[in-house]
Amino acid sequence: MLTKIKEAAEFIKKHISGFQPETGIVLGTGLGGLVDDIQVAHSLPYESIPHFPVSTVEGHSGKLFFGKLGNRMVMAMQGRFHFYEGYDMQEVTFPIRVMKFLGIKELYLSNASGGVNPDFEIGDLMIINDHINHFPSNPLIGKNIAELGPRFPDMSEAYDPEMIGKAKKVAHALGIPVQEGVYLGLSGPAFETPAEYKYMRVLGADTVGMSTVPEVIVARHMGISCFAISIITDLGVPGKIVKITHEEVQHVAALAEKKMTMILKEMMK
Ligand code: HPA
Repeated sequence: MLTKIKEAAEFIKKHISGFQPETGIVLGTGLGGLVDDIQVAHSLPYESIPHFPVSTVEGHSGKLFFGKLGNRMVMAMQGRFHFYEGYDMQEVTFPIRVMKFLGIKELYLSNASGGVNPDFEIGDLMIINDHINHFPSNPLIGKNIAELGPRFPDMSEAYDPEMIGKAKKVAHALGIPVQEGVYLGLSGPAFETPAEYKYMRVLGADTVGMSTVPEVIVARHMGISCFAISIITDLGVPGKIVKITHEEVQHVAALAEKKMTMILKEMMK
C-alpha cells in the first residue's frame, strides 16, 4: 500500500509543479459550491492518478483541485468514496493517505446526516465534536505501516478542539446558528428503521451518516488535525420520522450549502 500511496503522490507532485498544499478539504454534501471560491491553479481527474480508486458512477468521476482559498493553499477532493459503493476501507481512505504525502496538515470534511437528537431540526448545521465508528470495519485493520502512524492511534481528540472553537466563533460572528455533537458513521446504504434510529440515539449519537468516520480515523492515524461539519437533512426522532429519499437529502443540503460554505470560507482566512 505504501508504494501505491507514494506513486500516487509523486504523480500528483509532478503535475502541480511546485504547488504546496497545506490544507485538505473533502467537498462532501454541502460544500460542493466551495470549489467556485478556490483560485484553482491545477486540477486532476481521479482516473488520471495511479492507484486512485475508480468511480463506480458512470460520468461521475471525481477531481482533485489545487489552489488558494482565503489565504490557504488547499487541495480539495470533489467526490468521495463511500463504503456502501463497494470500496473497501483502504480504498475509501486512500486519497487521505495521499494528502498526507503531499504535505497536508489539517483536513476539513462535510457530510449530510440524519438527526437523532430531539432538539435538532431539518436544515440545522452540526459541528462534529466526536464520532462513533459503527461501520462493520476499521480502515486500520491489517499490518500497520509504521511510516504512516502508530499501531494503536489515540482518538481522544479526533476532531480538533481549536478548529471547533474557531468554527463556533466564526458561525456566531456570521449570525449562523450551529449545533454541536456526535456523528455516528455506518455503512448504509439503506436509511435506518425507526428502531435503528432509536438504537443510535441510545448509543450516544446526535446524528447518523454514511461517511467521514473512515477518513477521520486515517487522518488521525497520520497526525492530521480534523474538522467536520454536517447538515441535518432528515430526522430519526420518534414522532418526526417521515419517508426520505436521496433527492430530499440533496434538496435540504442544497438549501443549507450557503451557510456551510460561509463558515468554511471564513475559517480559511
Ligand atoms: N441516515 C444515514 N445517512 C444519512 C441520513 C440518515 O438519516 N441522512 C443523510 N445521510
